[in-house]
Amino acid sequence: MGKVLSGIQPSGKLTLGNYIGAMRNFVKLQDSEECYFMVVDMHAITVPQEPEALREQTEMVTALFIAAGIDPAKSNVFVQSHVPAHAELGWIMTTLTGMGELERMTQFKDKSQGKESVGAGLLVYPSLMAADILVYNADLVPVGDDQKQHLELTRDLAQRFNSRFGDYFTIPNPYIPEVGARIMSLDDASKKMSKSNPNPGSYIALLDEPSVIRKKISRATTDSGREVKYDPENKPEISNLISIYAQVSGLSIPEIEARFEGQGYGPFKKELAERIVELLEPLQQRYYEIRKSGEIHRILKEGAAKASLIANRTVADVKERMGFLAPR
Ligand code: TYM
Repeated sequence: MGKVLSGIQPSGKLTLGNYIGAMRNFVKLQDSEECYFMVVDMHAITVPQEPEALREQTEMVTALFIAAGIDPAKSNVFVQSHVPAHAELGWIMTTLTGMGELERMTQFKDKSQGKESVGAGLLVYPSLMAADILVYNADLVPVGDDQKQHLELTRDLAQRFNSRFGDYFTIPNPYIPEVGARIMSLDDASKKMSKSNPNPGSYIALLDEPSVIRKKISRATTDSGREVKYDPENKPEISNLISIYAQVSGLSIPEIEARFEGQGYGPFKKELAERIVELLEPLQQRYYEIRKSGEIHRILKEGAAKASLIANRTVADVKERMGFLAPR
């Protein structure tokens, strides 16, 4: 049994991109692996957060984990800040990371672009993410395509530590789905679908009501022409919608093309909206039940207690190897 770790930020609403690119794989892996899934609140504060909103969104993402099918009896579900070892190893990892390595990260470049002042947390974010993974000696990290570069840095840091202080960390591998690793915006297929996009019409939020989902899909940008044909180079907008269709229906791309042959974009979009509604309605129902049940805090407490056992041991081992004097 391997160890799996992943995290999602509690910043804004989770989208269909988060579900298809990451969460769905969390659910798949929990039957065969030892899993750690967390809400990464300490990552979220690398950009300003309203305190009340952060608390609400942390509960929201936890409930969405469970609603999406993560079973707290099989997986450890917790909040990053409830396991302080993440911050401690995060600092240690920061000291092993080069400035150049951090400045090269495309996520940092994107998030800091055009800003007058940029918080240092945004720059050192990948060192904390490396600590998240290494603190459990995770083998596998299910993420979407945009996290690939952070995973490469994590592997480099693990190797760097091992060569300086003796073999200790497992070198983790990313687990990136072949299709669906990069769901694009509904209003612009050159940008990834993102919860931080100021235009809500650009994404489907997991808690969007059916009428909202129908409206967003019907207004989604399409390419000129009317043929439902997968051709990412020449028809990026319709190709993105076709890959979403494939992800939510389980049908292959040729099957989808055949189904809508000669029908144009209208009927395709209508059916796509219904497929998304069919997927999200039961998830939403479970979500509201979980929020009402008051179970979240118990789940998080148990998750953090189990995660801390492993994480604290790792930090103690790392400190000993690095020459920290142990308290006696
Ligand atoms: P975050 O919160 O931005 O996104 C959570 C997960 O969703 C995936 N994702 C997507 N996949 C496909 N298409 C999209 N449009 C799309 N948008 C988001 C992301 O790739 C991610 O897997 N740095 C991480 C959080 C993190 C983490 C970790 C992940 C912190 N520590 C340790 C793994 C392991 C992030 O910002 O994800």
